[in-house]
Amino acid sequence: MDLRVREAQISDAEGIINIFNPIIKAGIYTAITKTISIDAEREFISKFNKRGIFHVAVDNSQQEIVGFQNVEPFGNDFTDAFDHVGVIGTFVSLSHRRQGIAKSLFQATFNACIDKGYEKIFAYVRADNQVALSTYLNQGFDIIGTARKHAKINGFYIDEIMIERFL
Ligand SMILES: CC(C)(COP(=O)(O)OP(=O)(O)OC[C@H]1O[C@@H](n2cnc3c(N)ncnc32)[C@H](O)[C@@H]1OP(=O)(O)O)[C@@H](O)C(=O)NCCC(=O)NCCS
Repeated sequence: MDLRVREAQISDAEGIINIFNPIIKAGIYTAITKTISIDAEREFISKFNKRGIFHVAVDNSQQEIVGFQNVEPFGNDFTDAFDHVGVIGTFVSLSHRRQGIAKSLFQATFNACIDKGYEKIFAYVRADNQVALSTYLNQGFDIIGTARKHAKINGFYIDEIMIERFL
């Protein structure tokens, strides 16, 4: 695949939700349960944190977004204690898996994280999402704990695995 990773733009909103909503609806990958409208995604991109990183992977031959990844600061306006920590999320189109798209996104995102002064990346992964865990461990993340019964989806509890990677 002729793949290019670049920064997300507001005009990518439709391409992003075209990937994201089927992943959300599948109900087995993420703790996000509500699908996202194009307007909400446009707003999300336009208000994205200045220290954040938001990448899309584009299949150049089709001009189609096939994956995206973002990192947001772990902290908030009331402290700078967590300024060196980012929280990552990674999503690849259901029909384009296992072709190295996540791998390309990680490479670009880690570089951008270092440039923006992050020292560590953190994430929660659903304990029943073995594919995502394998993907993150393959990228040098370590498991640091389990938040038990952390998500409750359709009445069922799901543990969340906490992972981190130093840059
Ligand atoms: C997790 C996800 C992002 C991986 O994307 P991808 O583009 O298919 O991953 P890649 O092809 O770059 O794979 C990179 C490595 O991850 C691991 N991996 C990826 N998919 C795997 C699978 N199905 N089984 C085992 N290992 C897997 C492998 O080590 C792989 O390297 P290899 O193909 O050389 O063996 C994708 O499956 C996805 O979007 N899942 C749904 C959303 C999600 O769970 N996000 C994570 C929570 S934030």
